[in-house]
Amino acid sequence: MTTWDERFREGEYPQDPDPSPVLERYVDAFPDGRALDVATGTGRNAVFLAAEGYAVDAVDQSREGLRIARANAAERGVADAVEFVQADVQSYGFPAETYEVITVSFYRAVDRFPDLKEALCPGGYFFVQHHLRSTDPTQSGPSTDRYRFAANELLHACLDLTVVHYDERTETRPDGRTAAVATVVARKTTGPRQPYPRVPAE
Ligand SMILES: C[S@@+](CC[C@H](N)C(=O)[O-])C[C@H]1O[C@@H](n2cnc3c(N)ncnc32)[C@H](O)[C@@H]1O
Repeated sequence: MTTWDERFREGEYPQDPDPSPVLERYVDAFPDGRALDVATGTGRNAVFLAAEGYAVDAVDQSREGLRIARANAAERGVADAVEFVQADVQSYGFPAETYEVITVSFYRAVDRFPDLKEALCPGGYFFVQHHLRSTDPTQSGPSTDRYRFAANELLHACLDLTVVHYDERTETRPDGRTAAVATVVARKTTGPRQPYPRVPAE
């Protein structure tokens, strides 16, 4: 089986893809402070958040992915704002109430959601994006449905937070291939009356 190190080394995965568009739309609504990017890959969301002024921890197990991510951060002039951590996300000890923003894109971390939600500061934002099971033919994502979200599964997994954005759609990924994708933006707040972010139209 191809490892992530091999994929990054062989250029199978884009080396410097753009940040997630939904993250770009919502970032101005997020509180300033610290951010955590889980399974950062080549660091597209971590580098973007650093450029937006966050002190970022970016965790991934791939040495090669992190090498490219460091180079991308240096190129954007934000190397000092990102702490790259080579670690297994399955067993990593996320510190409690530490981050204003946590992002997880295209890595199925649902069994770590309780720890990630604990790692959010009160009022902090959780951004998650991942492949869906779909009846449409899609060209991108895990070869088995086991690692994809079922319809509404990501939404249900975030209902203990305040969900401010949720969608399931087919989109074109940075590598040009189509993918069925679920995206959530949720805030660590509760209560029937809350403020809601103003976001630019799509
Ligand atoms: C599809 S890439 C997504 C990268 C990035 N989040 C993005 O959206 O471009 C999946 C990433 O998950 C990382 N990964 C897979 N299993 C992991 C684990 N157990 N611990 C840490 N990182 C892992 C891989 O090394 C790879 O960088």
